[in-house]
Amino acid sequence: MTPPDAAPLVELRGLTKTYGEGETATMVLKGLDLTLEKGRMIALLGASGSGKSTLLNILGTLLRPTAGRFTMLGQELFGADDATLTDFRNRHIGFVFQFHNLLPDFSALENVIFPTAVREGVESAQARLRGAELLELVGLADRTHYRATKLSGGQKQRVAVARALMNKPDLILADEPTGNLDSVSAQQVMELIKVVNQREGTTFLISTHDERIAAQCEGRLEIRDGRII
Ligand SMILES: Nc1ncnc2c1ncn2[C@@H]1O[C@H](COP(=O)(O)OP(=O)(O)O)[C@@H](O)[C@H]1O
Ligand SMILES: [Mg+2]
Repeated sequence: MTPPDAAPLVELRGLTKTYGEGETATMVLKGLDLTLEKGRMIALLGASGSGKSTLLNILGTLLRPTAGRFTMLGQELFGADDATLTDFRNRHIGFVFQFHNLLPDFSALENVIFPTAVREGVESAQARLRGAELLELVGLADRTHYRATKLSGGQKQRVAVARALMNKPDLILADEPTGNLDSVSAQQVMELIKVVNQREGTTFLISTHDERIAAQCEGRLEIRDGRII
């Protein structure tokens, strides 16, 4: 018997996603297969509109697929109820989006710990400690108490990476995380992702249009015509 630990992080089989119904129905994912092993750092490529964000949102359990098999850490998630998906997401998944989505009037530290504080209903000392450690990891120890509006684009995105790491996720889904950054800031974010990937063993799936970003990943997947090619 295979120990549960040997299960890939993610397995998708014959996954489809159709938006809308009837005449306006659009099938974006058309029977997609994907296996993602733990600890990897993989680029997700594909033309604009090919379904990268759709796939990342499905993997993040924010969006339900239409059909197919979807297991993560050996757990079947297709058709799972909302409570199960929310719990799974909180335990295992972190997100970094193209637009950092920081709360402008909150400090860097408050932004990092906010989702955890909301979930736990309390801003614990432990959360503040972990938040401060993460800001140090992302090179922003000296910006801990700066309001988000006082940070540069690259610094905000590094805060977003720290926020994504707060609950020690197994998988971070990054949807064009450098798409809105100048090349120097983009490279800093990539260096950070590499450090986190190596030091914490966090798996990253990073959608991008940028060949320089993809070239720094261990592997690449490309969506074309609704499938991984
Ligand atoms: N909520 C939605 N309703 C209907 N169509 C959508 C929705 N979200 C995305 N789409 C369509 O699905 C396709 C894939 O979109 P998306 O996953 O955002 O691609 P990408 O991230 O690769 O640019 C596009 O044609 C887009 O217009
Ligand atoms: Mg997209």
